[in-house]
Order: sequence, then structure tokens, then C-alpha cells
Amino acid sequence: MLSCLRNRLFVRSPVASFSASYASRPSFNPTPSFKLTEPPTPGWNLGDGLPTDSTLGKRWKQDETQGWKTWDTNTTTGRDLYRLLTSAVVPRPIAFVSTLSADHVPNLAPMSYFNVVSHNPPLLSISLSLSPRKPKDTRENIHATKEFTVNIISEPFVEAANICSIEAPSEVDEWVVSGLTPEPSVSVKPARVKESAVNLECELYKSIDFVSESDGPPTTTLVIGLIKHIHIRNAVLTEDQKTVDPSKLRPVARLEGNSFVRLGEAFDVPRHSWKALKDSVEKIMEERK
Ligand SMILES: Cc1cc2nc3c(=O)[nH]c(=O)nc-3n(C[C@H](O)[C@H](O)[C@H](O)COP(=O)(O)O)c2cc1C
Repeated sequence: MLSCLRNRLFVRSPVASFSASYASRPSFNPTPSFKLTEPPTPGWNLGDGLPTDSTLGKRWKQDETQGWKTWDTNTTTGRDLYRLLTSAVVPRPIAFVSTLSADHVPNLAPMSYFNVVSHNPPLLSISLSLSPRKPKDTRENIHATKEFTVNIISEPFVEAANICSIEAPSEVDEWVVSGLTPEPSVSVKPARVKESAVNLECELYKSIDFVSESDGPPTTTLVIGLIKHIHIRNAVLTEDQKTVDPSKLRPVARLEGNSFVRLGEAFDVPRHSWKALKDSVEKIMEERK
């Protein structure tokens, strides 16, 4: 007990010092942030475009007068492209990727160049940015073993997941560093993350290297994974057990830099059927000829 207290008093957490810079911000609100509202323009009609009869629409229209700034990607530095693209394409979901090296060293790393590619066949993509300084363990491991798991990061353990982005030598075990728990997978050797409410067991389906200069080394590897098993905690499933309830999953996504985002307000916008709208569409097309 005494030694525990002493540790708390005298051994400062090596990662907590970074948190001091957030001291002026409001504390994290643990209440679920997800809630459904009406859509922005419930009365939107065919051909309405940007509605300018609301404050939101008016302001958006007014912003047009400020014009555009345009970048030519041929003359933009890699760093600037990274900052532009990762701030413009947001929020990005995050794959928390578990792999094993050929020598069975486990590895965990977050990747936000990530999405589902297809459900038929069930495919997902992660994209690995390569540095000449150090090979990316995730890439090396997936190429060596052809297997990985993707785990979804939820608010309660975002710091533990984030520490796994540390650029450590390949012998460092991020499971130990993060304190997260490996749970055996069903069909692949890399473990799944027990703290994640969603685990996707994957086999390597395709790997494509990209170069930025025709004779240069690969700068990016796109990995497509075939999802073999999907594990979802009962606690985050909807009542009919067919979908995941976003308010229970509490996923985090990535913005630019060190910023993460959680779900806020959501709204439904209906998908319309051609059959139901055919006459109205034809009428408006005729009117606007
Ligand atoms: C939230 C987050 C998302 C990231 N997304 C990517 C990504 O999509 N691709 C990538 O190559 N690195 C990404 N990184 C950086 C890697 O996690 C980092 O380079 C890590 O050290 C790679 O580990 P590995 O060498 O064990 O594969 C991300 C880091 C964070 C914190």
C-alpha cells in the first residue's frame, strides 16, 4: 500500500506529461454523445440543391464568395499533402491491427487509412505509409504470415490503442506496452483485442505497393484483407442482434494530427426508390428544359 502510494507520488507517468497541455480544456464527458436528430432540411425537395432559406444554408452559400485555393499535387510537398488530405478526408475510421511476425513476435498498431471495401466478398483495406528509416512491422508481418486481425477502438481504451503507434523496434511487444489483452482468434494466429467490441479476423487477399517516383522504392502498401470471422460483443449489438448500436460501440475516428473524434449527433436521410419518384423526376426535368 505504502509503496503503491510512493509510486503515485514520485514516479510520474512518462505519457501523462503530455496531458498537461490539455488542462485548459473541459474534461472528457463520459455520457454517450450519440443522439439522433432531424436532418438539416427535412422539407428538401427534388431540384432544391443547397437550401438557402435556412441560416445554415445561407451561410454556406455566402462562403462561396471567398473562392477556392487549389494545390497541384505535382508541386506540393509530401508533408503538405499529408496534412491537407488527412484534415480534408475526415473522420477516418481506425483499424487497430494485430499481427505476428514470422518469429511469432506479436505487434499491434493503429491505422486510419482504413475502410471496408466490400461485403461480397467481405473485404477491408488498410494502407501503410512506408518510411526509409524503418520497415513497418505490420506490413512485414502481414506479408510473412498472410494473417491479421482488425479491431475497432472505442472511447474507453483510446489511449492504450494510441500508444501502439509508438515507433518502437520490432521486438517490442505493444500488448505489454498498452496493457491490452490478447484473446485467441478462431481462424488466424494473430490474437484479437479483448477490449475491442468488434474484431475482424482477416487473411491477406491482396497487397499492392505504390511508388511516388517511377524508379523509387515503394512509399505505400495497400493491404486488402478477406474477413474470415467477425466477433461482436453482445453488449454492443442491437436488440435483433443483426447490427451494431453506435451509441454502445462508442467508436473513435481520426481527424488530422493528434485529434480523435467520437460520434456526435446523427440523422437519417431516406434512400428514395426510382419507382416512387419516377413521375416527379420526369416532371421537374420537363419543367427545367
Ligand atoms: C490514430 C492513428 C492512425 C494511424 N494510421 C496510420 C495509417 O493508416 N498508416 C500508417 O502507415 N501508419 C499509421 N499510423 C502510424 C502507425 O501506427 C505507426 O507508424 C506505428 O508505429 C506502425 O507500427 P508498426 O511498425 O508496428 O506497424 C497511425 C497512427 C495513429 C495514432
